[in-house]
Amino acid sequence: MNVVRRGVVDSTNEVAKTLIAEGAEPWTVVVAEKQVQGKGRFGRSWSSPRGGLYLSVLLQDELSRLPILALAAGLATAEALEALGLQPRLKWPNDVLLGDRKVAGILVEGIVGAETYWAIIGIGVNTNVTLEALPEGLREGATTLRDALGEKVDNEALLKGLLDALTTAHPAVGKEEAVSRRYREICSTLGRKVKVETADGMLEGKAVDVDASGFLRLQTKEGVVEVAEGTIVEGG
Ligand code: BTN
Repeated sequence: MNVVRRGVVDSTNEVAKTLIAEGAEPWTVVVAEKQVQGKGRFGRSWSSPRGGLYLSVLLQDELSRLPILALAAGLATAEALEALGLQPRLKWPNDVLLGDRKVAGILVEGIVGAETYWAIIGIGVNTNVTLEALPEGLREGATTLRDALGEKVDNEALLKGLLDALTTAHPAVGKEEAVSRRYREICSTLGRKVKVETADGMLEGKAVDVDASGFLRLQTKEGVVEVAEGTIVEGG
């Protein structure tokens, strides 16, 4: 694994795109100390002050596997936190929670390269960030590892744990079920009544399953609906 270290960047996902254009190898990892244009899902921003862990992993993969790769990345992040003695849960698709507060987020982007498809797995963890350094509106729903553990976290050790866990969690083609099975064990969304914002509008129902494609299965009044992409805005 080639780890590329940067100081201040716009976004490690954007650096990843440049590295791909320059001929990077799969499993190249970009880590930055701070991002000034950190990106969240659906065009949101991801506040990335110094002290946090911000990385992107470059993989070659089919675009159809992005949802399950995103789940695998959430799972790997949760497993790295479990190794610190914490009990994280995953809110579909891949918000990593401690209690009901978000400590890490994942943004997976698909890229069409010259000869192959790429998946950029961007992971942000609030490690040694202070809540005061985050925008006011985010503080209530967020937490940090330093707050949860009562001491500073070794970002380097966490990075290593996370990359080891991602290597293990990364599903071979045809082996996606192993990810969704383990994912379901620590998913806070299942069994709950939720509202999911999707590109096609708001869906409401009971979260009954997360399948091997990474889709959320929702029991709605009209029947079971498979949700490929969305944000849970209530419940979960
Ligand atoms: C979300 O929860 O909406 C996703 C947040 C993803 C943040 C990470 S930090 C590293 C990588 N670079 C980015 O610009 N975003 C991801």
